[in-house]
Amino acid sequence: MIPVSKRASAIEYAIRDVVVPAMALEAQGHEIIKLNIGDPIAYPGLATPHHMVEAYKESLSRGESGYSPSYGIPQLRKAIAKDESAKGWNCSENDVYVCHGVTEALQIIFAAILEEGTKVLAPGPHYPPYMAYPQMYGAQTIEYALKPDDVWSMDFEDINSKMDDDVRLLVIINPNNPTGNVAGEDEINKLLAIAKNWPKCVIIADEIYDGLDFSGKQKSVSSLSSSVPVISLNGVSKVYYAPGWRIGYMALHDPTNVMTDLRDGLERLLRSRLCASTPAQMGYLAGLESDRGWMISHKSKVQSRRQLCLDRIAKIDGLEVEAPGGAFYMFVRLTDKKWSLDDKDFVLKLLAEEHVLVVHGSGFSSQKGAGHFRLVYLADEATLSTAFDRIDSFLERHRSAKE
Ligand SMILES: Cc1ncc(COP(=O)(O)O)c(C=O)c1O
Repeated sequence: MIPVSKRASAIEYAIRDVVVPAMALEAQGHEIIKLNIGDPIAYPGLATPHHMVEAYKESLSRGESGYSPSYGIPQLRKAIAKDESAKGWNCSENDVYVCHGVTEALQIIFAAILEEGTKVLAPGPHYPPYMAYPQMYGAQTIEYALKPDDVWSMDFEDINSKMDDDVRLLVIINPNNPTGNVAGEDEINKLLAIAKNWPKCVIIADEIYDGLDFSGKQKSVSSLSSSVPVISLNGVSKVYYAPGWRIGYMALHDPTNVMTDLRDGLERLLRSRLCASTPAQMGYLAGLESDRGWMISHKSKVQSRRQLCLDRIAKIDGLEVEAPGGAFYMFVRLTDKKWSLDDKDFVLKLLAEEHVLVVHGSGFSSQKGAGHFRLVYLADEATLSTAFDRIDSFLERHRSAKE
């Protein structure tokens, strides 16, 4: 037997791990309602805009199948810098590094910053790679609490109590996955005030859902920071509806010039992995440079599906939810004791009996996500209604069975 590394066998990705039993059911001929994956393309009416697809195709037709510059195609870096600057900070094209998605950017940032014994302080619950990757560099992810009864807002006391010199990255995901919480200016300022006391700490601002803010209060963290170093993350996956293109970026906001060495390390890592996909970058460029009016209708579809879910959840015994301010997720609380104690059992039994697939909350944080499930609310209204009918009868049936 060839031995596997500990770092590989420690990796878990709950969102895709639950797909394995779902595929087995599909292989038996069952149709599954999949509300597990944050991929808008998997749902009707939320296609990548035509002009972006055309730009991607035209790039291929022009023969642009070669490697591109390691930090990104200059025109795209410029367009991203303009877009970030419009969010309220002075971003230059040299601050922008294009990657194969935010996910690759995270791996590069972790590789450049983390050492044995260092820590990442991330919200709990959170998007799984924030927990999975740091351990590969001998670091550890510590969770700060999001308040479950207060729309999952950040618990600043908890953040304060967990900060120390070993915390090299303080993460904010805004809007948050999986809770949908949106942090506004006051909260971001509180986070910055804490980070200011720790000179070795950089803030990661994962703003990949920033164009899907229904609260109107989402703000760029870089735009509010006058001294704390921030790495803003964003890309084509969510707001531009093209996750399979694998294009995202990191943008460095370094108001007090403390990231010079780090920038050099990031650039070395970026050069060593060559570049991001060339035609996909051209597709994203078209999205940034063209009229964005199309976003209104996409966003209003997402919003009406959100409302349907909130209305249905309010009427189902055994479910509760804090209304999300952004993104396209709901983190639904299971109030029946049996399920609140074992959310994964709920997810697996719901899948087996009702053919509805959601993700167990404990997959986003074994402690702080337990007793919940995450629902992606992008399916069409009829599918969502059917899913809720089935969830309702599942809960009812198991309650009366008194197991
Ligand atoms: C908070 C967050 N960051 C990053 C990503 C992935 O981004 P990308 O597709 O650019 O790798 C996701 C995907 O679900 C996410 O929820």
